[in-house]
Amino acid sequence: MSTQDSDPKKSAKVLVTGAAGMLGSQVLLSMPDGESAVGTDLKEAPGVVAVGVDLADEAAVAQLFAKHGPFNGVIHCAAYTAVDLAEEETVLAQRVNADACGVLARACAAAQIPLAMVSTDFVFDGKSERPYLESDPTGPLSVYGSTKLAGEEQALAAHPTGTRIVRTQWLYGPRGKHFPRTIEALARERDELKIVSDQIGSPTSTLELSPALWDVLRKGEPGIYHAACEESCSWYEFACAIVVLCGIESVKLMPCSTEEFPRPAVRPAYSVLDCTKLRELRGKPLAPWREALSTYLGSEDH
Ligand SMILES: NC(=O)c1ccc[n+]([C@@H]2O[C@H](COP(=O)([O-])OP(=O)(O)OC[C@H]3O[C@@H](n4cnc5c(N)ncnc54)[C@H](OP(=O)(O)O)[C@@H]3O)[C@@H](O)[C@H]2O)c1
Repeated sequence: MSTQDSDPKKSAKVLVTGAAGMLGSQVLLSMPDGESAVGTDLKEAPGVVAVGVDLADEAAVAQLFAKHGPFNGVIHCAAYTAVDLAEEETVLAQRVNADACGVLARACAAAQIPLAMVSTDFVFDGKSERPYLESDPTGPLSVYGSTKLAGEEQALAAHPTGTRIVRTQWLYGPRGKHFPRTIEALARERDELKIVSDQIGSPTSTLELSPALWDVLRKGEPGIYHAACEESCSWYEFACAIVVLCGIESVKLMPCSTEEFPRPAVRPAYSVLDCTKLRELRGKPLAPWREALSTYLGSEDH
């Protein structure tokens, strides 16, 4: 990663957690001119300078700040993201998704630096009939959603003047396992695929979201932001667009209901996010999901 100073120990930089993950890796790559950044994660990856730091461990985080700081901001992307497994691994999910947010927020408060942390549409119950506002009541349906909401609350309580929560949804991008990658592979193998058509959201590319996270960190007031690509669809419509854009004609896609495809964690049926606040901050929305998907699938590293 670039630095502003020839001696990295002297130049303040942003700490990106989860920097080996789907979103965190793209956040590092999307670093704006004039910024420096380093990453931490459980595993090695480009830009990751601290491997295996337990972010829920106060002493470990203090050591991370002392050894790799000074930091002038934190973008927190690390999380326990196995939504179905979280229903069983409740203690670990709580530790990573909730307690680590409190620990990081306390470290940021002590250092008097801003924290932008990523949250999820799964904090909502999915019963709304219009896009969710940041101020709408929450009502998570799963352990993942509850622990992410607890993380929001811990961070806002520990660092109210510095915490920005960015809720997003249906992510995909150049790195990691995600819906477009899975659908493309299955569509090349199979003649027929059933896809859930009664859950509605907004597919969001990490290529679109990552620059927005930097803007929220630097230009946003503390508080909650919703950040997703414009317009919405069902998983079935998303899959149809993927197959068409990949030029796969050999597969037949069939809509099905959530009931036909039961999963351990309950998902919100409707979780479209109203992103007006972010649009006003940045003077532009994230791209419409079809346009962002086309850009991603047309890129060399998809
Ligand atoms: N993916 C989505 O559709 C989606 C939707 C809404 C919100 N989000 C949020 O977006 C953020 C980024 O998600 P993502 O999809 O990029 O997830 P991801 O690819 O799973 O990245 C998360 C990273 O955090 C790491 N991590 C897990 N536990 C950790 C710990 N205790 N300490 C340090 N690092 C740890 C993971 O390592 P391991 O892989 O080794 O566990 C992984 O590299 C998360 O806050 C997630 O809740 C994601």
